[in-house]
Amino acid sequence: MEAGLVKAPIEVYRFDPTHDRAPRYDRFELELAPHTPVLTALLKIRADSDPSLTMRYSCRSSICGSCAMVINSKSRLACQTPIGPELERHGRIVIDPMRNMPVLRDLVVEMGGFWGNYRKLEPHLIDNPERPMPEGRPSSMSPEEVERFKETPRCIACGACYSACPAVEHDAAFPGPMSLAKLYRFVVDPRDGGQRERLLKIQPGGLWLCLRCHLCTEACPKDVRPSERIRDLKEMAIALQGATEHGSKHAVAFKENIRERGVLNEFKLVRQTYNPIEMLGQVPQGLKIRRKKPEITQTPKPIEGLAEVEKLYEILDDEPEATK
Ligand code: FES
Repeated sequence: MEAGLVKAPIEVYRFDPTHDRAPRYDRFELELAPHTPVLTALLKIRADSDPSLTMRYSCRSSICGSCAMVINSKSRLACQTPIGPELERHGRIVIDPMRNMPVLRDLVVEMGGFWGNYRKLEPHLIDNPERPMPEGRPSSMSPEEVERFKETPRCIACGACYSACPAVEHDAAFPGPMSLAKLYRFVVDPRDGGQRERLLKIQPGGLWLCLRCHLCTEACPKDVRPSERIRDLKEMAIALQGATEHGSKHAVAFKENIRERGVLNEFKLVRQTYNPIEMLGQVPQGLKIRRKKPEITQTPKPIEGLAEVEKLYEILDDEPEATK
């Protein structure tokens, strides 16, 4: 083996729905420099071993967002992921197509659902009479106004966050992290006249299905931090409308619940989130939890150091909303 090269065992997901009954993994053994991106390794496989290997890519520079795939169980850009650290950590590289999207062939997925969710959020400026568009073009913005976008303009719509999101997997009604990060971008845009309607429209279900797992933020190759922008949208929605949804009622009740005793009162939380009829639907879940954790009581004792918890709440109460 040439100096500076490493052995790279690579297993690639293969599936051609026109021929294959089931997916399989093809294994290739390459010798590559550790800094070689996974995408380059795939292109080498295609050039030297199997011209039928199918994938998307374009810029090879982490700009176009085409090459998102699952590499050793994590959604990321193949052109931005060097093989060296993957081999050190896992001893091999296993490559799958993105999750939460149907596979068209090999590593190429159908992204219609991803883009459809985005289109539903009307990703364009809506006329704002207070900021009319001169000659049909959006008015300019001050640097302070641009700051409000935070990292959202960096998004390249690669789909890695959507692929990593368990809420998307669980419920097709969830628009996905990218769409919500982009929605945030319009909600804080002072040139947009639809902020209120956007928040009201996204409230029923959509926003509150986020599980706050932060896997989208971990997956994002551009550090857009979608989970933080979803949190901001939730705060804005509560500020606009109060706690009217199960999700928002649960969030507000959770915060107050912990403040009271420093520990969650699960029974009270359910009462604060659901009305009496809805609570009946929670009984099976409640019994399940009771079986698992019989120590749960209706009146948990306040924890020691409750004063410290209160101090934390006071600090948070003084923080500006979007930084909590
Ligand atoms: S090929 Fe463009 S982002 Fe990877």
